[in-house]
Amino acid sequence: MKAGDGRRGLEGVVATTSAVSSIIDGTLTYRGYGIDDLAQHSTFEETAYLLWTGELPTASALHTFRTEIAAAESLDPEVIRLLQGFPNSGTPMEWLRTGISALSIRDRGAGGADPDAGRREAIGILARFPTLVAAIHRLRNGQEAISPDPELSLAANFLYMLRGERPPKVSSRILDEVLILHADHELNASTFAARVAASTLADLYSAVVAALCTLTGPLHGGAAEGVHRMLTAIDGVGGVTPWLQGALERRERVMGFGHRVYKNGDPRARRLKRLSERLASMSDDQRWYDVSVRLEGEVARTLSLLPNVDFYSASVYTYLDIPPQLFTPIFAMSRVAGWIAHIMEQYADNRLIRPRAEYVGHTYRTYIGMENR
Ligand code: COA
Repeated sequence: MKAGDGRRGLEGVVATTSAVSSIIDGTLTYRGYGIDDLAQHSTFEETAYLLWTGELPTASALHTFRTEIAAAESLDPEVIRLLQGFPNSGTPMEWLRTGISALSIRDRGAGGADPDAGRREAIGILARFPTLVAAIHRLRNGQEAISPDPELSLAANFLYMLRGERPPKVSSRILDEVLILHADHELNASTFAARVAASTLADLYSAVVAALCTLTGPLHGGAAEGVHRMLTAIDGVGGVTPWLQGALERRERVMGFGHRVYKNGDPRARRLKRLSERLASMSDDQRWYDVSVRLEGEVARTLSLLPNVDFYSASVYTYLDIPPQLFTPIFAMSRVAGWIAHIMEQYADNRLIRPRAEYVGHTYRTYIGMENR
């Protein structure tokens, strides 16, 4: 195989087997359950349980799982103190990267592939993630971090810890649905990074941090924030066409459009569009939704590209009054469920992931002494 023969970026390469999630004929399933069904009927906690164990929980299994999560949600005061020492110059993702690493110093059990220690650590990471993201936001804004309320779901708790007041049910449920929709996505770049790290038998935290770092980029989880910037720069519905013309002249990528796997549309985007429409109808500001819809039409017409998961996420988060710098941390807060499912799957049947590169550099050269260069 030659570099540049169509496998650039490993496009189309089947790198592993997995039973966690599938994209077949444009349909996304988690453990065989369609994401539309899950988004409509499930909760994020139930979805995480499904991703990790392969089955939907019974009522008592879900109760136990939620109890374990509630017991693990608080942050160690040392982690808060560490965060308080950070200057405000970093982005929330930079804080989060360090924050997740810091959690491991206290929480880490046996590490590596031990299933019991792994389950405890996994619940600890899933449970503390929203607490950490909310604390980061508040500390960066000179506010005290708020302790989690064990009565609330992860989604509701996140909104509560962000603002200090119990969120309306509709906001919690919409965020819960957003978390379900982002929870896993086959062998996307960050999940692949998680599996590569896990394949060295690095511990769960290290594999999650590898994934988190990979999610950061604008071609992956960083796109929704880019969509917000773009929607802000567009001057209303009438400004869509001139803005797009300018972006194309500048040869910019239109954030939130295109996908490596979906060529006939991303099913998550269709669902998020409906959520955005619903939130717009409850708001006195239709602009975010209306501009998004017009841009979707214009991009389809001029570039034949369809929106991906990040496109309507941006307007949904904006209607939920979530600041743009938290869009990627929230993506991570959800996707960590999928990362952990894949890391567990990798540990359960591991072989070191170590591909080859086709060498295209110089052939063997004779060393040149400093005086002759
Ligand atoms: N805006 C403008 N052009 C785009 C584009 C976009 N959003 N997405 C793809 N293209 C174009 C590329 O410029 C390229 O054109 P070229 O062959 O003339 O150079 C062509 O489509 C293929 O792009 P490539 O990056 O090789 O395809 P990919 O399958 O690797 O792309 C993404 C997948 C997601 C990286 C890409 O669509 C993208 O950059 N989208 C914007 C970022 C984004 O929304 N990321 C979130 C993904 S969920």
